[in-house]
Amino acid sequence: MHDFEKCPDRTHTDSIKWSAAPEGVLPMWVADMDIPVAEPVQEALRERVAHPCFGYPDFEQKELKNLVAAHYHKLYDTEVDPDWIVWVPSVMPGVTLAVRLAQGSFTYFVPMYNHIREVTKEAGLPMTEVPMKKTGTRFTMDFTAMEEAVTPETKTFILCNPHNPVGRCYSKKELLEAAAFCEKHDLLLVSDEIHCELVLEGRHTPAFAVNEWTKMHSITLGSQGKIGNIPGLPFGFAIIPNAELRAQFAKGLLGTMACFDVLTLAAYRKLYDGSCDAWKEDLREHLRRNRDIVEKWVQDTEGITMPHNEATYLAFLDCRALVLQSPAKFFLKEAKVMLSDGEIYGDPQSVRLNYGCPESQLREALNRMDEALKKYKSGC
Ligand SMILES: Cc1ncc(COP(=O)(O)O)c(C=O)c1O
Repeated sequence: MHDFEKCPDRTHTDSIKWSAAPEGVLPMWVADMDIPVAEPVQEALRERVAHPCFGYPDFEQKELKNLVAAHYHKLYDTEVDPDWIVWVPSVMPGVTLAVRLAQGSFTYFVPMYNHIREVTKEAGLPMTEVPMKKTGTRFTMDFTAMEEAVTPETKTFILCNPHNPVGRCYSKKELLEAAAFCEKHDLLLVSDEIHCELVLEGRHTPAFAVNEWTKMHSITLGSQGKIGNIPGLPFGFAIIPNAELRAQFAKGLLGTMACFDVLTLAAYRKLYDGSCDAWKEDLREHLRRNRDIVEKWVQDTEGITMPHNEATYLAFLDCRALVLQSPAKFFLKEAKVMLSDGEIYGDPQSVRLNYGCPESQLREALNRMDEALKKYKSGC
């Protein structure tokens, strides 16, 4: 079992998570983990840095495409032709480009990852946000509501699977429903699957593998940014089985791929060639334990609820019963814990807590939040 309890001091490492936190504040916000990357990745990076030449790499990276394809086969029992893979600078530029391809307006469910909510500005295209259905604490996609929101101008549906911030890993049945909806309205299915290796329960199905229709009408985006904990080494890929769509997408990328980076390539090879599989398995086990700690804390804390996380290391805490003007500001000021403000995902009465960290750090954050809530509830 790998040990995830030690993380070196991350201040002064260009980490926005830590540098944005005022003195004495524990940062539990942005989605990277306070966990060192796997040893094979560290070794590969050290080895590459030791060689003092940093010339242009081959931009095709056929071998890496083969590794990604084999990895999809191994994990999801699905065939990927390496030629379906198109490299992207990172996942979000890929999502924005995919949305631009279809033009027209686009739609997705809220709460939703904040940068997907920004795509409307970045792509210069209108969007419609449709609330997810909430049954108890469980979030599901609501295609009855979306049916009412869709118009002839709607051209794209963005899926986030696993879903940030509500931690869902959608079932095949739910994905078939999404596929049927897209087919009925002739929508391009753009699926952000950056968290797909962070499934804690259930089984991930890539969008292109849902059925024959999605195979020809989808763009699936992924990377090692989340599971490998290397978002500071930006990179990613789109899987596009439809050759015409792929050619359009690749054309849209022309000029941007001069940012291919040799250190990132060294890390990616290790994350896809199987060298880090045991580390990833242990990491998921560590995250399951941390999730259970958060869930237990939520059960014991009056006024807070959360959906059960099937995936990701992000807990979306519903604080509306606490009747606070801003739960995020409250926890920052009174508990000295920095959380992501639910407002950016479309719910100002929630906060997102990142439990991708040592258990001791998580417990420290929860204790601080507990103390602040005790004082608040007692009226001090
Ligand atoms: C759902 C989702 N998509 C995309 C990203 C960011 O991707 P990238 O940094 O590769 O652009 C994140 C980061 O938190 C995310 O949660």
